[in-house]
Amino acid sequence: MTKPVTKCASLALLAIALGCRAHEDVPVAPAPSPVLSVDPHSFANLAEVRVRHLELDLEVDFETRRLTGQATLTLAPHTASRLVLDTRDLEIDAIVLDGVTEASFSLGPPQPLLGQALEIELDSTTRVVGISYRTSPRAEALQWLTPEQTAGGAAPFLFSQSQAILARTWVPCQDSPAVRMTYEATIRVPQGLMALMSATNPIRAAPDGIHSFSMPQPIPSYLLALAVGDLEFRSLGPRSGVYAEPSIVDDAAWEFADTETMIETAEGLYGPYRWERYDMLVLPPSFPFGGMENPRLTFVTPTILAGDRSLVALVAHELAHSWSGNLVTNATWNDFWLNEGFTSYIENRLMEEIYGVEYAHMLTSLGLGELRQTMRELGPGSPDSHLVLDLAGRDPDEGMTDVAYEKGANFLRVLEAAVGRERFDRFLKAYFDTFSFQSIDTDTFLVHAREHLLDEHPELEDQIWLEEWLYGSGIPASLIEVHPVAFDRVEDAVYSWATGTAAADLDTGGWTTHHWLHFLRTMPSEIDDKRMAELDAAFAFTESGNAEILSTWLLLSITHRYAPARPALERFLLSVGRRKFLQPLYEALADSNDRAWAHEVYARSRPGYHPLTVSTIDPILDWVDKGTERRPPA
Ligand code: BES
Ligand code: ZN
Repeated sequence: MTKPVTKCASLALLAIALGCRAHEDVPVAPAPSPVLSVDPHSFANLAEVRVRHLELDLEVDFETRRLTGQATLTLAPHTASRLVLDTRDLEIDAIVLDGVTEASFSLGPPQPLLGQALEIELDSTTRVVGISYRTSPRAEALQWLTPEQTAGGAAPFLFSQSQAILARTWVPCQDSPAVRMTYEATIRVPQGLMALMSATNPIRAAPDGIHSFSMPQPIPSYLLALAVGDLEFRSLGPRSGVYAEPSIVDDAAWEFADTETMIETAEGLYGPYRWERYDMLVLPPSFPFGGMENPRLTFVTPTILAGDRSLVALVAHELAHSWSGNLVTNATWNDFWLNEGFTSYIENRLMEEIYGVEYAHMLTSLGLGELRQTMRELGPGSPDSHLVLDLAGRDPDEGMTDVAYEKGANFLRVLEAAVGRERFDRFLKAYFDTFSFQSIDTDTFLVHAREHLLDEHPELEDQIWLEEWLYGSGIPASLIEVHPVAFDRVEDAVYSWATGTAAADLDTGGWTTHHWLHFLRTMPSEIDDKRMAELDAAFAFTESGNAEILSTWLLLSITHRYAPARPALERFLLSVGRRKFLQPLYEALADSNDRAWAHEVYARSRPGYHPLTVSTIDPILDWVDKGTERRPPA
């Protein structure tokens, strides 16, 4: 077990750094070395100065694939002599202090993940830092889509993905989840296109292409978000709605009809929704995630439009981040489970309240299956199977596994069972009140839980294996497993089929997406071609319009070498960019004797994938980037 990084340890390092750099002719508190900042993924000198407000004025140019303009940062009162910001691939033209004085600044040496520290000289009276800059066409947070990559086929599209440390590729900022700021923005786009942000949003495109935004609640930089495209709005309720390309917006509105109920249910459990509106934006299929909880405007993949509302747990998940993550935020990416574990727990509670306990248990059970798979892949004793991670010097992406989500949620279910649901609900609601609009680490959570939840029964700590959950590897023995009756039926069907019953004779009446996923995931490990064909003939998996079911089936088709699914696999790889689906498919292809085929398809699909997806798939296929794939169109 590796020792968890504690707040005290990082503060001790900071104190040493402060001491070492003391110099007699520096009148104010000297600066710590940026690499010893409290956040291992930020260069920012957070101990000395904090950004409180951001004002963006950016022009979106689809020809050059650049954002050009100004970021004006307002600082909290400070005594610092310099401001260190995070940047990556940004071109800085000029920096002006308090609207008048040209500042001296320098960019540090580029580091592969962290980018470059932008060091700006200040004096202690400086309040406003205006930075003129432009982004690179390679900015990793931004995906620029050609019209052909959209549903409408007529207009280009742009969207950002800032989490975890990519905000710095489009905005010079203190790119740490420990810092919160309010923001305003003016975004200039070609006429006819609409711009949207994680802020107050328009409901139609501005005729002159100039869109104004304001985010009055303070947010961390990873929640800065922008999208531009040919978009329409549909209202879902008094404070919710959906944006999407015109050809899919009505389908999206139908799929998300339960959104208002979800908001009300979450408020009933965890207190008021503090972001005024909850809208969603359905992105083109290259969006690398299922969803992203950008405040006021969740971004979602179009692959959740299953046509039967069966994948809306994802909406509940992103909505739940309005409490866990956006309101109470992980202080560094080592504490990612505080965002995702709490959110997965709440997601499941919302599903239970709205669709019933059996439905929620099916999701819990599927999630646990995924966690066990991840644990097998990580191997016994892996530090990456701890809830509290040590990601210093690594890409935070590497810590973003099912461990944070599913081990985190299961830990909270164990706590809930130990103290009783009513008590736990009261505790969580108060937790969100106590730490609202703050960033906290696991120690802070633990101290709070010991004081407000486990105070009357300290012996519970040992019973639930508290420290084991947080700092140990694998899944502790106090795990509570659920056994949905629905899945007994599915397992009976799998057994019947494996022992000779024809697929067409299985009793699958009334099965939902979750039954089918469990069915496909519990298939025997050896299935010959004839039996794959039999399944396909009975249940038409290859034709499935449900991306979860289809991708699971396509994975089986690779491991069982079922050739008739090849055209569907090729279409899927060429049209969907969601990393969760693509990663296992390419991994299976790389392990099969179909590497050559995978390379050939990847050569065609790669230019359409998001940079984040590309960074994940390249190493799987040992792909050598020839530097031609992301050039702007001629
Ligand atoms: N915040 C995450 C997405 C994310 C995590 C982006 C880490 C970048 C780095 C989002 O809330 C999420 O968890 N999305 C999941 C969906 C969910 C239902 C588990 C996804 O995209 O699959
Ligand atoms: Zn999440």
